[in-house]
Amino acid sequence: MAPAFDTQSREPEDVARLFRYYAEFETPRLHSRVYTDYCAGVAEDEALLELVCRTMPSQPPPNVLFAAVKNLLLEDAERSAEARDLARFYPAVSGGAIPDESAFPAFRAFCLAHEAELDPALRSGRTQTCVVHRSAIMLPAIGTLPRVVAAGGRVGLLEIGPAIGLNLRLDHYRYEYDAAGTSIAWGDPAATPVLACELRGETPPLPEKFELAARHGLELSPIDVADKKAVRWLRALIWPEHLERGRLQDEAIAVAERVPAEIAAGDATTDLEAAVGRLPTEVPRVVFATVALYQIDEAGHRTIHDALARASVSGPIDFVTMESNGRGATRVDHFAFEDGAASDHRVLAEADSHGRWLDWGKQD
Ligand SMILES: C[S@@+](CC[C@H](N)C(=O)[O-])C[C@H]1O[C@@H](n2cnc3c(N)ncnc32)[C@H](O)[C@@H]1O
Repeated sequence: MAPAFDTQSREPEDVARLFRYYAEFETPRLHSRVYTDYCAGVAEDEALLELVCRTMPSQPPPNVLFAAVKNLLLEDAERSAEARDLARFYPAVSGGAIPDESAFPAFRAFCLAHEAELDPALRSGRTQTCVVHRSAIMLPAIGTLPRVVAAGGRVGLLEIGPAIGLNLRLDHYRYEYDAAGTSIAWGDPAATPVLACELRGETPPLPEKFELAARHGLELSPIDVADKKAVRWLRALIWPEHLERGRLQDEAIAVAERVPAEIAAGDATTDLEAAVGRLPTEVPRVVFATVALYQIDEAGHRTIHDALARASVSGPIDFVTMESNGRGATRVDHFAFEDGAASDHRVLAEADSHGRWLDWGKQD
């Protein structure tokens, strides 16, 4: 359920309503007792509301405030007595279990003691997460496209909105797909991360061979895997209880450190045709987007399809998208472009927005 009020307002009473909404729906849904506690506390706290009103209107204030706090702890959890006290509620920092007590008093004390250090991240912080688990959906969706199979698994990839680009290294991960009674795996058994995905409905085909000839990205705000501060911010965005997600992200970042990808700064609504032009033409060209197009308006979607149609004059282009279906999950679509025009569209699957389950073949 989406909040029925203006989430971009930075008037304290509107921000308080958003924190109440998070405490009631969002943080319990994502199984975070610590952030549920924070949200309920911040909603009634004038001093903390003043702090969080500094966040950019386009960004969700709770996520930015909580990441700004965790970021300082990851940088130095020994910076003060308040930091040491609060670090107990972050297993990724403390190494221990979360204490069975309210985290809010320690959180409040930390925020007030470190207001000046929090300020830059509050004003500029973005919730630009990259969910590596979505690769479990892209592996069958891209790897078994007829043109890719016909080329012996060779493909040149271009991702729209890759953030740091973890899903551009999808051929380096291990996958374990499970359905009642059956289990299928793909990838080097020694590879990490190991991405588990529950199968609902049909068993998806998996590529016999998959060889990436190019890994390109087009991103409004690229994150460089060599930028330690940017990588720490990605870790800070992971919620305290979501340890497995943090571990998988760290393992995928380690892969990204050794497998290069070319992520160009640019806007898909204006720079896509040029970006497609940089892909090699001797292998099938596949453009894909996972949970990124929702940040682009309807006119922008049309511009993207038009750009892909124009780019297909120099050879066919497949376009695979995994975007919200408006019912709490995502729909996986395949569009084909040939000879300057759209030539095909099929719905491939329904999938969990974080790639934890896949319903292959499910139509709307
Ligand atoms: C929610 S993140 C998803 C990142 C990644 N695709 C994933 O699945 O984890 C959406 C990304 O799309 C990027 N983005 C949004 N609009 C864009 C545009 N017009 N052109 C290029 N990138 C865009 C954002 O900067 C952000 O990094």
